[in-house]
Amino acid sequence: MLDSDLFRTLIAEASLAPSVHNIQPTRWRLLAADTVLVLEDGERRLPAADPTGHDVRLSHGAAIEGLSLACGGHGLRIARMELGDGSDEVSGLRVIARLTLGPGGAVDSLASAVAGRRSWRGRFLPAAGELQEALQRLAAAPDLLVVPSGSAVVEIAELADRVGFHFLCEDAHRRELLAWMRLSRHDSRYGRDGLNAEAMALGSVEAMGASLVLGPLFPLLKRLGLAEPLTRERSKTASGAIALFHRPLGEDPLETGRAFYRAWLSMEAQGLGACPISVLADWPVSNAALLARHPLPAGRRLVNVFRLGRVPPDAASHRARLPVAELIV
Ligand SMILES: Cc1cc2nc3c(=O)[nH]c(=O)nc-3n(C[C@H](O)[C@H](O)[C@H](O)COP(=O)(O)O)c2cc1C
Repeated sequence: MLDSDLFRTLIAEASLAPSVHNIQPTRWRLLAADTVLVLEDGERRLPAADPTGHDVRLSHGAAIEGLSLACGGHGLRIARMELGDGSDEVSGLRVIARLTLGPGGAVDSLASAVAGRRSWRGRFLPAAGELQEALQRLAAAPDLLVVPSGSAVVEIAELADRVGFHFLCEDAHRRELLAWMRLSRHDSRYGRDGLNAEAMALGSVEAMGASLVLGPLFPLLKRLGLAEPLTRERSKTASGAIALFHRPLGEDPLETGRAFYRAWLSMEAQGLGACPISVLADWPVSNAALLARHPLPAGRRLVNVFRLGRVPPDAASHRARLPVAELIV
């Protein structure tokens, strides 16, 4: 059913899925013509930002959903997913899941949004009637609670800055983030992984500034009271709307990741660019504050928070990704 050419094509599309800090932890092995192993590159983890591995597992889920969307375009589907038990390893890589592919797949309505989806971290275009209409359509999505532009969004943008700064003040967290940033185009990893200047919507001067502010100057700037204003994002965040992404309590983050990717694609399908602000959901204080202000249906947990809106037409379109040959092991 699968030969190595088709497998490469499917993995290339699956690799367009989002992953936390763009660490791309998922590796793939074609075990038999209908069997694919989903493996984890254990070197790619975020011990400071994601100590439990929740977001890494969620990223694997998004990659699996990416594979599922790709399969549909070739009349295939993931017929069965068996989870690794945590101790299985293949060539030193932990087995996340074993997938059995089968015939009977169909093109998914979200598949056409895969190629265009990317994180947008710049300012959104001013709200227009079409944004409100897109948000209304999105509000029907099962896992999203939409907060339209306005004072509630400004409040969330300010909260995001407070929480973001709280985490940036932790040395381990800040260093880890900086280690995944590719702020110079001369960095040989610029187009491969992590967060490059283009992906962060930073010009070259801003990127150089960011490397100093988050790097050696941070302690001094903090003492002078300048680090917080220099790392503020609120005006960018508040230029758009917010969507709270929620899923059932107790769900395996692998499943959550599949729904996360679909939710993001549904924004793209409405013509909206988006980007998560994970710290808002990760920090218990901000998570509770958001739930108090924007209650979720019973039995649901707040997994992440997206900023979203209309993206300028000249926004960068390149995405840093590892070559497919490195993802297949
Ligand atoms: C679980 C998860 C959490 C993420 N959290 C953030 C975040 O807090 N801030 C951010 O700017 N991007 C966040 N992202 C987006 C990733 O950085 C992004 O998907 C990755 O850099 C790949 O780029 P792309 O989305 O443009 O394909 C997150 C992605 C995932 C899967």
